[in-house]
Amino acid sequence: MPKISHDISIAGLTIDRKSKIPLTKQLYEGIRSAIINRQIRPGQRLPSSRTLAEDIGLSRNIVLLAYEQLTLEGYLTGSVGKGSFVSEDTYDSFAGQAIQQNKPVAPPDPGTEVQLPKLDQVSAVYVKRETSKAIVKPFQNPVPALDHFPFQSWSKCAGKIFRSLEFLQLSYDDAQGCYPLREAIAAHLRINRALSCEPEQIIITNGTQQALNLIASLLMQKGEQFWIEDPGYINAKLAFIQAGGIPCYIPVDVNGIDLDHACIHYPKAKLAFLTPSHQFPLGGTFSIAKRMQLLEWASKNKMWIVEDDYDSEFRYSAKPVPSLQGMDHYQRVIYTGTFSKVLFPGLRIGYLVLPNPHLTQAFKQAKAFADRQNAITDQLILNEFIKEGYYATHLRKMRVLYKKRQDHLLELIRKHGGELLRAEKQGSGMHIIAYLQENQDDQQIAAILDQAGIITTALSVYSSKFKYPPGLLLGYTAFTEKDLETGFFKLLAILKEQHP
Ligand SMILES: Cc1ncc(COP(=O)(O)O)c(C=O)c1O
Repeated sequence: MPKISHDISIAGLTIDRKSKIPLTKQLYEGIRSAIINRQIRPGQRLPSSRTLAEDIGLSRNIVLLAYEQLTLEGYLTGSVGKGSFVSEDTYDSFAGQAIQQNKPVAPPDPGTEVQLPKLDQVSAVYVKRETSKAIVKPFQNPVPALDHFPFQSWSKCAGKIFRSLEFLQLSYDDAQGCYPLREAIAAHLRINRALSCEPEQIIITNGTQQALNLIASLLMQKGEQFWIEDPGYINAKLAFIQAGGIPCYIPVDVNGIDLDHACIHYPKAKLAFLTPSHQFPLGGTFSIAKRMQLLEWASKNKMWIVEDDYDSEFRYSAKPVPSLQGMDHYQRVIYTGTFSKVLFPGLRIGYLVLPNPHLTQAFKQAKAFADRQNAITDQLILNEFIKEGYYATHLRKMRVLYKKRQDHLLELIRKHGGELLRAEKQGSGMHIIAYLQENQDDQQIAAILDQAGIITTALSVYSSKFKYPPGLLLGYTAFTEKDLETGFFKLLAILKEQHP
């Protein structure tokens, strides 16, 4: 544990002046049990004798005597002027004592359990992720090429913002999000995604995930049906289920959802979660005719459409696909976007675009009560990054890089995949699907690959009702051509072992 040099105060340390036990002994016992119970841990610094004496109203001499005794017994180390620290080897030296080093996780007391939706393989990964384990391995998805992130430009923007922060900006700010950032996003969306969008319609969120939770909390009532693509985005499904919604699974092909199926089987649905520009995970695009039909249906049946436009900025073919929101004249589309893909997921900035001021007000209120606002400094830095043109430059560069990486992976599959793997070009996005042989179990293959350090996700994980050919999602954006080759040949060797 790194040395922590703050002057900590020890909560719960009490001295009974009426007790017959001498004050030094009481203090010694109190600190000793704080060490044994791991309230203060090896490497942590104790308050200076002067501070502790003031904190608990004893003379400094008494504190010095207690520290001396604890040092003699090996609980503390330190020297005059440097301070007293809990010994690094405290627990080894006192192994015989009842030290609660690794407290077993206690089962919940009756009545404290919380009902959670059952997590599948994909969502469980989000929950399990730990700080020190963020190693990116082929073909992890979706991970941007973080080695190409323009850190210098980002830190230049950050430096400028921190040097010029005004007092008022450090207080609570607009829950809807910082206005200049909303202006920058609105301009970007109008040009690049053909959205009909003004800054007043935007709510800045903590990624798409918060946008989905806000939508679910405001627009989904318990027992109401919602359409969800099958296969589709699991996190969206879980957000609406958690709000009490009932999922209605809609099959998908290269043109997006089977709209007739949805209208015939689930005419009462109140909301549809869709990825029209680049269906997740299969990659199809809704035709213009389908978009018109969908908007007409939503208007007639008072259904909300949530358009998740998560990665279509990475469009590799010449023709950009306009957003569904830009075609909506009925105020039925709620658009969500994210900076997780173009910049980095840890930034946690996404946004909602609402179709009218009434809804904007409702979402602003929900956002204010959810977490007051996004961090102001991150919003200002991002705004500066966009305003200075770094965002557009980075996006252009990544489009070229990602296209090359996708082409390279497809070429490897085409040349060497033989009977074992086949894949098709994706016009946008950050992953391809490598289809396996008909009789294979993609989840079992993904688990075997995982053991060998190859990270893929089985296509079948994303479907709930309909069956699709077995396949693996392969992310390619974060990997050099050499990484892709190494990963690919390892993957191929394992597939060959499975199918000698
Ligand atoms: C379909 C889809 N939408 C949105 C997101 C982005 O989520 P967030 O903005 O919460 O990082 C992802 C990320 O994996 C995704 O796969």
